[in-house]
Amino acid sequence: MSGEKPLTSILSAQAGRGSEPNPSFCVSGERKGPALKEWKGKGRLFVVAVDGPAASGKGTLARRLAERFGLAVLDTGSLYRATARLVLDENGDPADPVTAEAAAKHVDLRLLDDPRLRADSVARAASVVAAIPEVRRELLGAQRNFAAHPPAPARGAVLDGRDVGTVVCPQADVKLFITAKIEARAARRVKELREQGAPAIYENVLQDLNERDARDSGRGAAPLKAADDAHVIDTTMLDADEVFERVCRLVAHALEEKEWQQ
Ligand code: CDP
Repeated sequence: MSGEKPLTSILSAQAGRGSEPNPSFCVSGERKGPALKEWKGKGRLFVVAVDGPAASGKGTLARRLAERFGLAVLDTGSLYRATARLVLDENGDPADPVTAEAAAKHVDLRLLDDPRLRADSVARAASVVAAIPEVRRELLGAQRNFAAHPPAPARGAVLDGRDVGTVVCPQADVKLFITAKIEARAARRVKELREQGAPAIYENVLQDLNERDARDSGRGAAPLKAADDAHVIDTTMLDADEVFERVCRLVAHALEEKEWQQ
Protein backbone atom coordinates (compact mmCIF):
# COMPACT_ATOMS: atom_id res chain seq x y z
CA MET A 1 0.00 0.00 0.00
CA SER A 2 1.39 3.40 -0.92
CA GLY A 3 -0.36 5.21 1.91
CA GLU A 4 0.19 8.56 0.18
CA LYS A 5 -3.30 9.45 -1.01
CA PRO A 6 -5.39 8.68 2.05
CA LEU A 7 -2.77 10.03 4.39
CA THR A 8 -2.65 13.29 2.48
CA SER A 9 -6.42 13.56 2.49
CA ILE A 10 -6.57 13.01 6.23
CA LEU A 11 -3.81 15.55 6.73
CA SER A 12 -5.62 18.11 4.62
CA ALA A 13 -8.79 17.49 6.62
CA GLN A 14 -6.74 18.57 9.62
CA ALA A 15 -5.64 21.80 7.99
CA GLY A 16 -7.18 24.90 9.48
CA ARG A 17 -8.32 23.07 12.57
CA GLY A 18 -5.04 23.30 14.41
CA SER A 19 -6.39 25.45 17.20
CA GLU A 20 -9.37 23.22 17.99
CA PRO A 21 -8.96 20.67 20.74
CA ASN A 22 -8.51 17.14 19.50
CA PRO A 23 -11.04 15.01 21.39
CA SER A 24 -8.96 11.87 20.85
CA PHE A 25 -5.77 13.31 22.17
CA CYS A 26 -5.56 16.40 24.29
CA VAL A 27 -4.23 17.92 27.42
CA SER A 28 -6.35 19.72 29.89
CA GLY A 29 -4.82 23.17 30.16
CA GLU A 30 -6.89 24.21 33.13
CA ARG A 31 -5.43 21.92 35.77
CA LYS A 32 -8.17 22.89 38.14
CA GLY A 33 -8.68 19.56 39.88
CA PRO A 34 -8.30 19.78 43.64
CA ALA A 35 -6.15 16.66 43.75
CA LEU A 36 -3.74 18.08 41.20
CA LYS A 37 -3.23 21.27 43.20
CA GLU A 38 -2.00 19.08 46.06
CA TRP A 39 0.16 16.96 43.76
CA LYS A 40 3.70 16.60 45.04
CA GLY A 41 4.67 13.49 43.12
CA LYS A 42 7.85 14.91 41.62
CA GLY A 43 8.65 13.26 38.34
CA ARG A 44 6.33 10.30 38.77
CA LEU A 45 3.55 10.07 36.25
CA PHE A 46 0.03 9.13 37.16
CA VAL A 47 -1.81 6.83 34.72
CA VAL A 48 -5.50 5.96 34.61
CA ALA A 49 -6.65 3.06 32.38
CA VAL A 50 -10.30 3.12 31.29
CA ASP A 51 -11.40 0.00 29.42
CA GLY A 52 -14.76 -1.35 28.39
CA PRO A 53 -16.98 -2.40 25.50
CA ALA A 54 -18.37 -0.08 22.81
CA ALA A 55 -20.82 2.61 23.91
CA SER A 56 -20.20 2.00 27.61
CA GLY A 57 -19.45 5.71 28.16
CA LYS A 58 -15.73 5.21 28.77
CA GLY A 59 -14.66 7.89 26.26
CA THR A 60 -16.71 10.65 27.88
CA LEU A 61 -15.61 9.50 31.31
CA ALA A 62 -11.93 9.53 30.28
CA ARG A 63 -12.19 13.09 28.94
CA ARG A 64 -13.96 14.33 32.07
CA LEU A 65 -11.36 12.69 34.32
CA ALA A 66 -8.55 14.28 32.34
CA GLU A 67 -10.19 17.67 32.71
CA ARG A 68 -10.85 17.28 36.43
CA PHE A 69 -7.35 16.02 37.31
CA GLY A 70 -5.22 17.88 34.76
CA LEU A 71 -4.17 14.80 32.81
CA ALA A 72 -3.63 14.24 29.10
CA VAL A 73 -6.12 11.91 27.43
CA LEU A 74 -5.73 9.42 24.59
CA ASP A 75 -8.64 7.61 22.97
CA THR A 76 -6.74 4.49 21.91
CA GLY A 77 -9.69 3.32 19.79
CA SER A 78 -9.02 6.21 17.43
CA LEU A 79 -5.67 4.60 16.51
CA TYR A 80 -7.51 1.47 15.36
CA ARG A 81 -10.11 3.62 13.63
CA ALA A 82 -7.37 5.58 11.83
CA THR A 83 -5.77 2.30 10.71
CA ALA A 84 -9.13 1.06 9.45
CA ARG A 85 -9.82 4.32 7.66
CA LEU A 86 -6.51 4.17 5.81
CA VAL A 87 -7.26 0.59 4.71
CA LEU A 88 -10.78 1.53 3.53
CA ASP A 89 -9.42 4.56 1.65
CA GLU A 90 -7.20 2.17 -0.31
CA ASN A 91 -10.17 -0.16 -0.96
CA GLY A 92 -8.19 -2.70 1.02
CA ASP A 93 -9.48 -5.60 3.08
CA PRO A 94 -9.35 -4.76 6.83
CA ALA A 95 -8.90 -8.48 7.57
CA ASP A 96 -5.72 -8.69 5.49
CA PRO A 97 -2.77 -8.56 7.94
CA VAL A 98 -0.25 -7.18 5.42
CA THR A 99 -2.48 -4.27 4.36
CA ALA A 100 -3.62 -3.53 7.90
CA GLU A 101 -0.12 -3.58 9.34
CA ALA A 102 1.13 -1.25 6.58
CA ALA A 103 -1.72 1.15 7.39
CA ALA A 104 -0.94 1.00 11.12
CA LYS A 105 2.62 2.12 10.36
CA HIS A 106 1.18 5.35 8.88
CA VAL A 107 -0.97 6.22 11.87
CA ASP A 108 0.13 9.33 13.63
CA LEU A 109 -1.28 10.74 16.88
CA ARG A 110 -1.73 14.08 15.14
CA LEU A 111 -4.16 12.52 12.66
CA LEU A 112 -6.81 11.36 15.10
CA ASP A 113 -9.07 14.38 14.94
CA ASP A 114 -10.78 13.42 11.68
CA PRO A 115 -14.58 13.29 12.20
CA ARG A 116 -14.77 10.59 9.51
CA LEU A 117 -13.15 8.22 12.00
CA ARG A 118 -16.43 8.22 13.95
CA ALA A 119 -18.41 6.54 11.10
CA ASP A 120 -19.98 3.16 11.91
CA SER A 121 -18.30 1.59 8.88
CA VAL A 122 -14.94 2.67 10.28
CA ALA A 123 -15.82 1.33 13.75
CA ARG A 124 -16.67 -2.07 12.23
CA ALA A 125 -13.45 -2.17 10.23
CA ALA A 126 -11.53 -1.00 13.33
CA SER A 127 -12.64 -4.05 15.27
CA VAL A 128 -11.46 -6.22 12.35
CA VAL A 129 -7.97 -4.68 12.10
CA ALA A 130 -7.76 -4.70 15.92
CA ALA A 131 -7.87 -8.50 15.93
CA ILE A 132 -4.60 -8.66 13.92
CA PRO A 133 -1.61 -9.07 16.27
CA GLU A 134 0.80 -7.22 13.92
CA VAL A 135 -1.51 -4.17 14.01
CA ARG A 136 -1.71 -4.23 17.80
CA ARG A 137 2.07 -4.53 18.05
CA GLU A 138 2.52 -1.62 15.67
CA LEU A 139 0.20 0.65 17.67
CA LEU A 140 1.43 -0.36 21.12
CA GLY A 141 4.55 1.83 21.15
CA ALA A 142 2.63 5.06 20.49
CA GLN A 143 0.20 4.29 23.32
CA ARG A 144 2.94 3.46 25.83
CA ASN A 145 4.93 6.47 24.76
CA PHE A 146 1.91 8.69 25.35
CA ALA A 147 1.44 7.27 28.84
CA ALA A 148 5.15 7.65 29.64
CA HIS A 149 5.56 11.11 28.10
CA PRO A 150 2.21 12.91 28.13
CA PRO A 151 2.40 16.33 26.55
CA ALA A 152 3.05 19.23 28.94
CA PRO A 153 1.58 20.48 31.19
CA ALA A 154 -0.01 17.16 32.11
CA ARG A 155 1.37 15.22 35.07
CA GLY A 156 -0.01 11.97 33.75
CA ALA A 157 -2.47 10.46 31.34
CA VAL A 158 -5.84 8.81 30.97
CA LEU A 159 -6.01 6.20 28.21
CA ASP A 160 -9.30 4.62 27.20
CA GLY A 161 -9.73 1.48 25.15
CA ARG A 162 -10.04 -2.27 25.43
CA ASP A 163 -6.65 -3.47 26.70
CA VAL A 164 -5.12 -0.47 28.46
CA GLY A 165 -5.20 -2.05 31.92
CA THR A 166 -4.22 -5.51 30.70
CA VAL A 167 -1.59 -4.87 28.01
CA VAL A 168 -0.76 -1.21 27.30
CA CYS A 169 -0.32 0.03 30.88
CA PRO A 170 -0.45 -2.95 33.25
CA GLN A 171 1.19 -0.70 35.90
CA ALA A 172 -1.55 1.96 35.71
CA ASP A 173 -2.32 3.63 39.04
CA VAL A 174 -6.07 3.24 38.58
CA LYS A 175 -7.76 0.69 36.33
CA LEU A 176 -11.42 1.05 35.48
CA PHE A 177 -13.57 -1.33 33.50
CA ILE A 178 -16.75 0.46 32.45
CA THR A 179 -19.52 -1.75 31.22
CA ALA A 180 -23.31 -1.88 30.84
CA LYS A 181 -25.92 -4.30 29.50
CA ILE A 182 -25.86 -4.33 25.73
CA GLU A 183 -29.46 -3.07 25.43
CA ALA A 184 -28.59 0.00 27.52
CA ARG A 185 -25.48 0.64 25.44
CA ALA A 186 -27.45 0.31 22.20
CA ALA A 187 -30.13 2.71 23.47
CA ARG A 188 -27.45 5.27 24.44
CA ARG A 189 -25.73 4.97 21.06
CA VAL A 190 -29.07 5.45 19.24
CA LYS A 191 -29.80 8.57 21.31
CA GLU A 192 -26.32 9.94 20.61
CA LEU A 193 -26.65 9.32 16.85
CA ARG A 194 -30.12 10.89 16.69
CA GLU A 195 -28.90 13.94 18.60
CA GLN A 196 -26.25 14.31 15.90
CA GLY A 197 -29.02 14.22 13.30
CA ALA A 198 -28.09 10.75 12.02
CA PRO A 199 -30.87 8.22 11.41
CA ALA A 200 -30.43 5.27 13.78
CA ILE A 201 -32.45 2.05 14.03
CA TYR A 202 -32.21 0.39 17.44
CA GLU A 203 -32.13 -3.19 16.09
CA ASN A 204 -29.30 -2.38 13.69
CA VAL A 205 -27.24 -0.65 16.38
CA LEU A 206 -27.84 -3.57 18.75
CA GLN A 207 -26.69 -6.07 16.14
CA ASP A 208 -23.64 -3.98 15.36
CA LEU A 209 -22.64 -3.79 19.02
CA ASN A 210 -23.21 -7.52 19.43
CA GLU A 211 -20.90 -8.27 16.53
CA ARG A 212 -18.21 -5.88 17.78
CA ASP A 213 -18.44 -7.22 21.34
CA ALA A 214 -18.02 -10.76 20.02
CA ARG A 215 -14.99 -9.82 17.90
CA ASP A 216 -13.38 -7.74 20.66
CA SER A 217 -13.89 -10.34 23.39
CA GLY A 218 -13.26 -13.42 21.26
CA ARG A 219 -9.98 -12.47 19.60
CA GLY A 220 -6.73 -14.10 20.68
CA ALA A 221 -4.70 -10.87 20.74
CA ALA A 222 -5.42 -8.63 23.74
CA PRO A 223 -9.11 -9.49 24.04
CA LEU A 224 -11.52 -7.15 25.77
CA LYS A 225 -11.52 -8.12 29.43
CA ALA A 226 -11.19 -6.49 32.81
CA ALA A 227 -7.76 -6.59 34.44
CA ASP A 228 -7.77 -8.60 37.67
CA ASP A 229 -7.14 -5.42 39.65
CA ALA A 230 -9.64 -3.22 37.76
CA HIS A 231 -12.62 -1.53 39.38
CA VAL A 232 -15.52 -2.94 37.38
CA ILE A 233 -18.39 -0.47 37.14
CA ASP A 234 -21.68 -1.52 35.60
CA THR A 235 -23.36 1.67 34.43
CA THR A 236 -26.65 0.10 33.28
CA MET A 237 -28.55 1.76 36.11
CA LEU A 238 -26.27 4.77 36.63
CA ASP A 239 -26.21 8.08 34.83
CA ALA A 240 -22.97 9.62 33.56
CA ASP A 241 -22.66 12.10 36.45
CA GLU A 242 -23.04 9.37 39.08
CA VAL A 243 -20.34 7.30 37.38
CA PHE A 244 -18.07 10.32 37.13
CA GLU A 245 -18.38 11.26 40.80
CA ARG A 246 -17.80 7.69 41.92
CA VAL A 247 -14.70 7.35 39.76
CA CYS A 248 -13.38 10.77 40.83
CA ARG A 249 -13.31 9.53 44.41
CA LEU A 250 -11.24 6.51 43.35
CA VAL A 251 -8.82 8.62 41.35
CA ALA A 252 -8.43 11.27 44.07
CA HIS A 253 -7.69 8.53 46.59
CA ALA A 254 -5.07 6.95 44.31
CA LEU A 255 -3.42 10.34 43.74
CA GLU A 256 -3.17 10.89 47.48
CA GLU A 257 -1.67 7.44 47.98
CA LYS A 258 0.88 8.02 45.25
CA GLU A 259 1.89 11.27 46.83
CA TRP A 260 2.43 9.47 50.12
CA GLN A 261 4.74 7.00 48.43
CA GLN A 262 7.14 9.74 47.20
O1 CDP B 1 -16.10 4.36 20.74
P1 CDP B 1 -16.31 2.87 20.68
O2 CDP B 1 -16.24 2.22 22.01
O3 CDP B 1 -17.50 2.49 19.87
O4 CDP B 1 -15.09 2.29 19.84
P2 CDP B 1 -13.56 2.67 19.94
O5 CDP B 1 -13.12 2.76 21.36
O6 CDP B 1 -13.30 3.86 19.08
O7 CDP B 1 -12.82 1.37 19.32
C1 CDP B 1 -13.06 0.94 18.00
C2 CDP B 1 -12.54 -0.49 17.90
O8 CDP B 1 -11.13 -0.49 18.09
C3 CDP B 1 -13.09 -1.43 18.96
O9 CDP B 1 -14.27 -2.10 18.56
C4 CDP B 1 -11.94 -2.41 19.19
O10 CDP B 1 -12.02 -3.51 18.32
C5 CDP B 1 -10.71 -1.63 18.81
N1 CDP B 1 -9.91 -1.25 19.97
C6 CDP B 1 -9.01 -2.18 20.49
O11 CDP B 1 -8.97 -3.30 20.04
N2 CDP B 1 -8.18 -1.85 21.52
C7 CDP B 1 -8.24 -0.64 22.06
N3 CDP B 1 -7.40 -0.34 23.07
C8 CDP B 1 -9.17 0.32 21.59
C9 CDP B 1 -10.01 -0.02 20.55
